Amino acid sequence: MSIRPAITPPVVPRIVAPPMQEERLDDAERSQLIDRIRDLIKRQNAVLIAHYYTSADIQDLAESTGGCVSDSLEMARFGHAHAAGTLIVAGVKFMGETAKILNPEKRVLMPDMAAECSLDLACPADAFSVFCDQHPDRVVVVYSNTSAAVKARADWVVTSGIAVKIVQHLHEQGKKILWAPDKHLGEYVREVTGADMLLWQGACVVHEAFKASELAAMKQQYPEAAVLVHPESPAAVIALADVVGSTTQIIRAAQTLPNLTFIVATDNGIFHKMHAAAPGKLFLEAPTAGKGATCKSCAHCPWMAMNGLKNLAQALETGSNEIHIEETIRRRAGLSIQRMMDFAVAH
Ligand code: 13P
Ligand code: SF4
Repeated sequence: MSIRPAITPPVVPRIVAPPMQEERLDDAERSQLIDRIRDLIKRQNAVLIAHYYTSADIQDLAESTGGCVSDSLEMARFGHAHAAGTLIVAGVKFMGETAKILNPEKRVLMPDMAAECSLDLACPADAFSVFCDQHPDRVVVVYSNTSAAVKARADWVVTSGIAVKIVQHLHEQGKKILWAPDKHLGEYVREVTGADMLLWQGACVVHEAFKASELAAMKQQYPEAAVLVHPESPAAVIALADVVGSTTQIIRAAQTLPNLTFIVATDNGIFHKMHAAAPGKLFLEAPTAGKGATCKSCAHCPWMAMNGLKNLAQALETGSNEIHIEETIRRRAGLSIQRMMDFAVAH
């Protein structure tokens, strides 16, 4: 009789969000910094790649200087395709790391190296590797919101924009999946695809705070509104959505759906782009437990908020906050990211 080793479920660290520390500047300071950053971008042959959750000023700077504002999949694609020698990534650490993994010859800077992500923090590489070793029969699929070391342990990296398609593809090949780190996104993908998925139990501190019962009440108050939900939200919130998708897919839905009112369950930094993409439409924040209750980062990511104009200018000026990744990890992580990017081109 063969004796199978006992499998202990992984202990997932509990992540507490840091206090919100948004940059406050007066008008003169702000416009001086914007001019300085424009000049630095030009002189340093740099390009600014920003996520939709960063401030309106950073998003506008990225677009007006030839950079991009996008979701994490497009950030990776854009940085890879761009000729600039320096990529300055305004987002969170895994986005900077992804840029470096794909562009080892380029200098990748970030405004603040402390800009983490609760999903990344909830999935330490050592514990994750043990979990993978316990399930050698499963294909390892990790969300992009992970460290380079976790990506290096994976077969595939996925972003929210392409997770369903890739898991569907693996499921059709009869593959069983080990998924990390976001339990909500994992549950959603499992529900849509019917794949056999074992889930790591991480969560996003921002999306986890959206509340289904309050959202149901809000829908009654705005019966004409379409509900747009990022799949890092809990299943009960997703169940109330008209559209579930990545940040880019949410913006596209706001543009293409005929509705004039939208209830949006994702970081409210996205509203800047939504207003530009669908002018005249009304965007309302989906309810969180916050507003006087328990949520600490109510519809706004405290790590994304660490990206400011001052630290952006400083990183460009001094070359500080450069991302470095150990070469073996970089190469291995690059294979699983590249697999996703090749899949995106082919499908
Ligand atoms: P997207 O890839 O949809 O932009 O999501 C990244 C993220 O961190 C959402 O919280
Ligand atoms: Fe991570 Fe959530 Fe912030 Fe996105 S919003 S970077 S998933 S903590």
